Amino acid sequence: LRHLLTLEGLPRGALEALLDRAQALTEAARGGTSLRGRLAGRTACTLFFEPSTRTRGSFQLAAQRLGMDVVNVDVSTSSAKKGETDLDTLRTLEAMGVDAFIVRHGHSGAVDDLAAGAAAGTVLVNGGDGTRAHPTQGLLDMLTLRQAKGQDFSGLKVVVVGDVRHSRVARSDIHALKALGIGELRVCGPAGLLPDRADPLLAGVVSTASLDEAVEGVDAVFMLRLQRERMEEGLVPSLDGYFAAYGLDERRLARARPDAVVLHPGPMNRGVEISPEVADGPRSLILRQVANGVAVRMAVLEQLLAG
Ligand code: CP
Repeated sequence: LRHLLTLEGLPRGALEALLDRAQALTEAARGGTSLRGRLAGRTACTLFFEPSTRTRGSFQLAAQRLGMDVVNVDVSTSSAKKGETDLDTLRTLEAMGVDAFIVRHGHSGAVDDLAAGAAAGTVLVNGGDGTRAHPTQGLLDMLTLRQAKGQDFSGLKVVVVGDVRHSRVARSDIHALKALGIGELRVCGPAGLLPDRADPLLAGVVSTASLDEAVEGVDAVFMLRLQRERMEEGLVPSLDGYFAAYGLDERRLARARPDAVVLHPGPMNRGVEISPEVADGPRSLILRQVANGVAVRMAVLEQLLAG
């Protein structure tokens, strides 16, 4: 693996190897093992053209725990504001000795374009591009599900709920769930917020507009935020009635299996797509997802930089 730009097409073995390594790193951290020497002398840069709390913070911690130097570039206060191109920004940081870039960008495919222009030894990780992919979120969601339900997904029913159409997280989750052999995969949301029926992403996926039906008997519910910033002007749905139709509350969650778990990539909008009682309740794995983000990102940096 040269760069990590998407989970689409990544073989099951490669996914499982990353998840196994992230699990081992989680256990090593619990046991107090230090990994600081692993990537000492290497430099990571978080280059974010869009806001982030989880992805940027956990990549910074992951790199530091492996002994890397870290530069954080917030493009909103960088020389991009003076007209520097994205690629010139990357090349400038490469010239300072950055080995690995974690890039978040508002345009689908922008991270691939930067990877194509990067120097031969530079590695790039997609920290979320447009509506296309958020591969490390997909990986940490799979690690979280695996810890809760075991490594064999073939007997599991999972539903992804909400604004699937604009969600790069949903795309990466669905690619990973399929690659890992999920038993049954459902998506649920208003028609305007689901991918077109012809989208290959939905091949083999059950699609429904009724959340009551969608959560019936599932083992895990993956909730999504409304990506209002990616919706065309004029097509942004009113929040009135959204929670009543597509919000996950305790009454609805009671239709899932008694041991069903709830995931959300964050940031959450409480009272819009999820009730505070569910978000903070005993079936919520939301903070476990955040914790797993550090180990997953360590595994990815190790894999790309040390093989
Ligand atoms: N899930 C996720 O990508 O969160 P941030 O936008 O805070 O990084």
